[in-house]
Amino acid sequence: MSKKAWGGRFQEDSISWVEEFNASIHFDKVLIEEDINGSIAHANMLAAQNIITEEENSLIKDGLMSILDDYNNNKLVFSVSEEDIHMNVEAKLIEKIGAAGGKLHTARSRNDQVATDMHLYVKKEVKTVIESIELLQQTIIELAENHIGVIMPGYTHLQRAQPILFSHHILTYFWMLERDKSRFNDALKRIDVSPLGAGAISGTTFNIDRFQTKDELGFSGIYHNSMDAVSDRDYIVETLANISLSMVHLSRLSEELIFWTTDEANFVTLSDAFTTGSSMMPQKKNPDMAELIRGKSGRTAGHLMSMLMLLKGLPLTYNKDMQEDKEGLFDSLTTIKGSLKIMNGMLETLTINEEVLEEAVTEDFSNATELADYLVAKGIPFRDSHEIVGKLVLSCINKGIYLKDLPLPEFKAASNVIEEDIYSILSPQVVVNRRISYGSTGTESVKQQLEVAKNHM
Ligand code: ARG
Repeated sequence: MSKKAWGGRFQEDSISWVEEFNASIHFDKVLIEEDINGSIAHANMLAAQNIITEEENSLIKDGLMSILDDYNNNKLVFSVSEEDIHMNVEAKLIEKIGAAGGKLHTARSRNDQVATDMHLYVKKEVKTVIESIELLQQTIIELAENHIGVIMPGYTHLQRAQPILFSHHILTYFWMLERDKSRFNDALKRIDVSPLGAGAISGTTFNIDRFQTKDELGFSGIYHNSMDAVSDRDYIVETLANISLSMVHLSRLSEELIFWTTDEANFVTLSDAFTTGSSMMPQKKNPDMAELIRGKSGRTAGHLMSMLMLLKGLPLTYNKDMQEDKEGLFDSLTTIKGSLKIMNGMLETLTINEEVLEEAVTEDFSNATELADYLVAKGIPFRDSHEIVGKLVLSCINKGIYLKDLPLPEFKAASNVIEEDIYSILSPQVVVNRRISYGSTGTESVKQQLEVAKNHM
């Protein structure tokens, strides 16, 4: 059994399966770069404040760099009995440089160390997530721009409602992602804060300079209360919440893709690369990637709940419960990055079945509101026109035809204000393009919307 860094007051040996339960090295080893950068900044500050010598500082820095080198060359062997990344690195450092390595932890605790590592790591990862969101937004803009004339059925209650431009529909997701991006950016304000120098709970008696380490590590802000610094995990909750909501957005888009690719709809076709076959049914082409994103959105929401429950009722300051903040977060980050990338690939390679969509919007009743509005324009109160059109729809359904197929005399029998021009009014192109209000689905409005969207990029 190796000697523990904290072994002084202990008399009995530790038990390996207890150590196993206590350890976090299996998952917190991904923090190695942040841990080493944090330590280098801390050592530089200790030297600048004459708490360690320049010689000790350079020994420490060289030692830490060579540990990182070993890690990158797969030469570093972690040990469970050293528990976590912080103590593994420190033990290696002492092994490499001797006594000077033991000075690195002066005026520092693992409590502010782990918080520093996590702030640095979450900041780096959230920036990557924001970049992936932007890539997807760009793909959506291109998709909308390249298919500006394509009309499709718009749904409410998953029942045909009114015809809309495909571009209008897909741009909805641009705006959801835009809000996601702004939430992640906003959270960065609270992520980008330095806890280093808070010590275990109360600060330190050494004359440290917390602002120097804050600046060297590139943090924008600093915790003003050492207890808050080591016990705050709000930024992790926020990040998990932001990921969960983005995943919910992606799950909605996934669901639409799944519906659009059914034989029943056949509105779009996914490229082979983003689908899979069935082991039994040779005809199948399944939208597995979209289904997986939909499914994974449950997992990220679960991690958010776990984190909230972890913190609920937790007294100040550091409690070992907090070690449980990592796996869910790491998994959520992997999940959102993977899902954004897959969604981007799916949309980039999507084929829109324009003829199917054209037929879909001519062979339905999604122009009924248009007929009602036509009657209103001729002076009939909307409630009466709604009733008239409802009856016409019913009689069409009974005959197995659509409004466009009704002969003029039957229109006139329902309301004598209806004229021959009704047939052009009922065409999906006219229905869509008569929508000119700001933010509506008319081609001109959508073109305007596209310009605004591009200005957000
Ligand atoms: N592995 C621990 C964690 O992830 C590091 C901090 C441990 N601090 C302590 N005093 N036990 O939270």
